[in-house]
Amino acid sequence: MDLAVRASAAAASSCSPYPTSLQHQQPPRARATHHLRRRRPGLTLPARRVVAAAAASIAVDPETNAERNDISEAEVFACPVCYEPLIRKGPPGINLPAIYRSGFKCSKCKKSFTSKDIFLDLTVTSGTKEYSELKPARTELFRSPLVSFLYERGWRQNFNRSGFPGLDEEFQMAQDYFQPVAGGILIDVSCGSGLFTRKFAKSGAYSAVVALDFSENMLRQCYEYIKQDDTPLNTNLALVRADISRLPFASCSIDAIHAGAAIHCWPSPSNAVAEISRVLRPGGVFVATTFLSTPTNSGPFSVGPLRPLRQIVGPVNSSYNFFTEAELEDLCKSCGLVNYSSKVQRSFIMFSGQKP
Ligand SMILES: C[S@@+](CC[C@H](N)C(=O)[O-])C[C@H]1O[C@@H](n2cnc3c(N)ncnc32)[C@H](O)[C@@H]1O
Repeated sequence: MDLAVRASAAAASSCSPYPTSLQHQQPPRARATHHLRRRRPGLTLPARRVVAAAAASIAVDPETNAERNDISEAEVFACPVCYEPLIRKGPPGINLPAIYRSGFKCSKCKKSFTSKDIFLDLTVTSGTKEYSELKPARTELFRSPLVSFLYERGWRQNFNRSGFPGLDEEFQMAQDYFQPVAGGILIDVSCGSGLFTRKFAKSGAYSAVVALDFSENMLRQCYEYIKQDDTPLNTNLALVRADISRLPFASCSIDAIHAGAAIHCWPSPSNAVAEISRVLRPGGVFVATTFLSTPTNSGPFSVGPLRPLRQIVGPVNSSYNFFTEAELEDLCKSCGLVNYSSKVQRSFIMFSGQKP
């Protein structure tokens, strides 16, 4: 089937990430334009179809009703308030300079989003002047500049003592799970300082990689490492601030989601996994790691050289959510993910589920 026909079929399907109003506004010419030029050899058919549908569906600016020239397949961002696609004004592409120079506006509620800092803030509270809110301590802890600074300088390495295999091996294990979605869009949710994001981006295995975290300081650290790494700035890599319980992506638009050592920090793991399931396209893959709850596991600071930190983060540490393997599998299933599988090493677990 021709890709343009696939695109319109996907847009019309129940999994279409875009509202019916916009689907109807697409002129046939818009459906068959730029995104087809950007076809990627390694991309599986369902992934191509969704990316093509995404590009096609926003190829018309609802304000001007004019076909725009700067649409790219990277336009996966959606409004965190109403989940409608964001209209972009500025250079196309999912790289840091292009996103920094772009303004985004919700096609429905008209809320605007810009990169005030080096990241694009797509939280619901982006732009609020008076209102602010505190998340649970396990989220707030990582917003601290000190924790963000220390994270890749010893904090994360300490996890190995609980059974985490270490950066290189964890990356390779995740890549194995992501093989069916190679060539697609990967979101590294709760990326921290971006230790895995940088590897995913450099691997060349994805059409675009988004580093997403709630912590402004983690994202700043991530940017510092990207600069030091000499990662070319035109790499298809974006930094986005967002809450895991309110993901700023269209439904059924994302191929791969990675969440390293994060689920135990999330305010509501069930809301988060439900969101992950919502944004994954059919066949999309979710891979996560965490600490298993065991009688002897009292968290990442219970052993090793960072043990003294427990005094500082003690109350935070004890508020982490640790799960048994049966609970993690149950959670994935209850959020509609299938093909659950896992690898366990002492308190470490890497688990994966797939969007049917
Ligand atoms: C232990 S770090 C994991 C970093 C990295 N992924 C890794 O594998 O080492 C947990 C991360 O979860 C993030 N986080 C906590 N609550 C969050 C939320 N509500 N939304 C998004 N990210 C959140 C923190 O900011 C922190 O960067």
